[in-house]
Amino acid sequence: MSDVDIKSVLTENRLFKPSAEFTAKARLKPDDLKALHQQAEEDYEGFWANQARQHIDWHTPFTKTLDDSQAPHFKWFTDGTMNVSYNCIDRHLANKADKTAIIFEGEAGDTRHISYQQLHDDVCQFANALKTKGISKGDRVVIYMPMVPEAVIAMQACARIGAIHSIVFGGFSADSLRDRIDDAQAAMLITADGGTRGGKIVGLKEAADKALSSGCDSINDVIVLKRSGHDINMQDGRDTWWSDAIAGQDKTCEPEWVEAEHPLFLLYTSGSTGKPKGIVHSSAGYLLNAVTSNLWVFDLQDDDIFWCTADVGWITGHTYVAYGPLATGASIVIFEGAPVIPDAGRFWKMVEQHKITVFYTAPTAIRALMKFGDDYPNKYDLSSLRLLGTVGEPINPEAWMWYHTVIGKERCPIVDTWWQTETGANVLTPIPGVTVTKPGSCTFALPGMAVDIVNEEGEFITEANKGGYLVITKPWPSMVRTVWGDDERYIDTYFPKFDGKYYLAGDSARRDEDGYFWIMGRIDDVLNVSGHRLGTMEIESALVAHEAVVEAAVVSRPHEVKGEAIVAFVICKEDRPVGEDAEKMVAELRSWVGEQIGAIAKPDDIRFADGLPKTRSGKIMRRLLRTIAAGEEITSDTSTLENEAVVAQLQGEA
Ligand code: WT7
Repeated sequence: MSDVDIKSVLTENRLFKPSAEFTAKARLKPDDLKALHQQAEEDYEGFWANQARQHIDWHTPFTKTLDDSQAPHFKWFTDGTMNVSYNCIDRHLANKADKTAIIFEGEAGDTRHISYQQLHDDVCQFANALKTKGISKGDRVVIYMPMVPEAVIAMQACARIGAIHSIVFGGFSADSLRDRIDDAQAAMLITADGGTRGGKIVGLKEAADKALSSGCDSINDVIVLKRSGHDINMQDGRDTWWSDAIAGQDKTCEPEWVEAEHPLFLLYTSGSTGKPKGIVHSSAGYLLNAVTSNLWVFDLQDDDIFWCTADVGWITGHTYVAYGPLATGASIVIFEGAPVIPDAGRFWKMVEQHKITVFYTAPTAIRALMKFGDDYPNKYDLSSLRLLGTVGEPINPEAWMWYHTVIGKERCPIVDTWWQTETGANVLTPIPGVTVTKPGSCTFALPGMAVDIVNEEGEFITEANKGGYLVITKPWPSMVRTVWGDDERYIDTYFPKFDGKYYLAGDSARRDEDGYFWIMGRIDDVLNVSGHRLGTMEIESALVAHEAVVEAAVVSRPHEVKGEAIVAFVICKEDRPVGEDAEKMVAELRSWVGEQIGAIAKPDDIRFADGLPKTRSGKIMRRLLRTIAAGEEITSDTSTLENEAVVAQLQGEA
């Protein structure tokens, strides 16, 4: 977040109380929330044990709640067995078999409704297809799919047989896909011929073929869903169409009863080194926080239609699309397409058409749609909405107010949910029927979540408005278990300070006079572009992998819609390119980064110089680069730099 934003939130003092009408119908009333907090405080383990008994159907009940003997590796409900897919689907069949589980809409406007019974049958058939291909408990399966119901079916099918899925977002490149397949040593890839976005076909199978031809020796089989219908190459003996894989398969499949700690999935996310890390999540602990947060934060009730706009390629699409809401028996919406196709009214048209009641999206989407004006939302009947949510980055008060007035018609509480891939589920968030909200604040910790702010020495900061490290001081059920194949990195990243006592979130935060949490930004070299996490080093590694580049430094500058925009400072092997040569090189490097990582990582701005500004000890002055990137005036003394002349070059003045 830029300094400008911080000042504006520091002065934010508007309060928004949920309406009596909302609270009257909400699952959690003020007294319920108080009781939950009290139980968690009095008996932390007992609290989570109760929740786990209440919200999960166990095959073998657990008797042990928390095992902290190997801290900071924590295990929950270790002697219990269960199955996530059973909990998301089968347990609803007795009284909700015909209820709609998934409403799907494609970009072209095609829709499908899938009942819980149908979902069960589809998941079982596909699970049986996986088994036929030799996939069994513990095998890794990479899913590289468009945002269609089959992506959820594939995830649920893996969960059903105890296979560990790893979703690679469809916007990532062939190289990223290959790296993730290789790191996970996946035995199978599930993909589609292509997806659609912005009226164009996303060539998923082409990218998959490229990935498979440059590595991925662990892959035995590829299952390909027909979606775009364009011509693709199918390799004999390796590739099978989805429809052929499920042909003749049984519509029942006994769930694999797995131990609570069995990994449910891996999800790669960026950190402060060049290589994304595979976050490992458990089965029962993960599902538990997914369920409790969907009930407490999204207040999901039997007649709700929940649309979380996240792609299943991100953690939000796991916890608030593919698993959590289904485990509560809700109806969810899945949309494959862009929010501005055919125009900027698409989301609001869908709200009207599907009578969506709970809507969860990212600040970047809100800001982007806000720019198109109020006429688009005003064209549609948004009266079905009763609750709004945001996630992924701090929301600026202006966007919050627009969401509140123009979309929520001042009727709907807004839950600004802070959490991470590693936390598995919401951590800091309002409770919609209870919490008085302040635009831009994610308010308070959920019951059973011990969140605090500490200084460099690990001492709790009690002073209002003083920033520090955001930490979680007690283990929680849905926390990351390890980094796939690199346990040391788990400890180094999340428990590097404070004698390993607290989980280090990687964000800085402050609490105001009323105890409200305000997220101030990352403390590491991680960028947040449109709510997506990207490591500066990841982009730098991609840039220096280009033959013309010797050195690169990546920082961000504030961006109106995306939150942060990527700015790369690049030193070339040959002379510094200028004029047309510079333009050509910029285009070349942007597409190169797109190939190396994916389109979301393409720098918005690339500048060339003869060198990077460094201190005499050789450290890159990142703070100075950020000032230059933002186009702000340099107030610090640059005369101590080893190479002062490059500053003017980077500013574009020489
Ligand atoms: C990082 C986690 C959690 C799903 C989406 C992103 C930032 C997330 C908020 C929020 C301010 C937020 C943090 C966090 N972040 N939500 N409500 N307010 N910042 O997951 O890719 O794991 O990124 O996103 O910096 O650490 P992720």
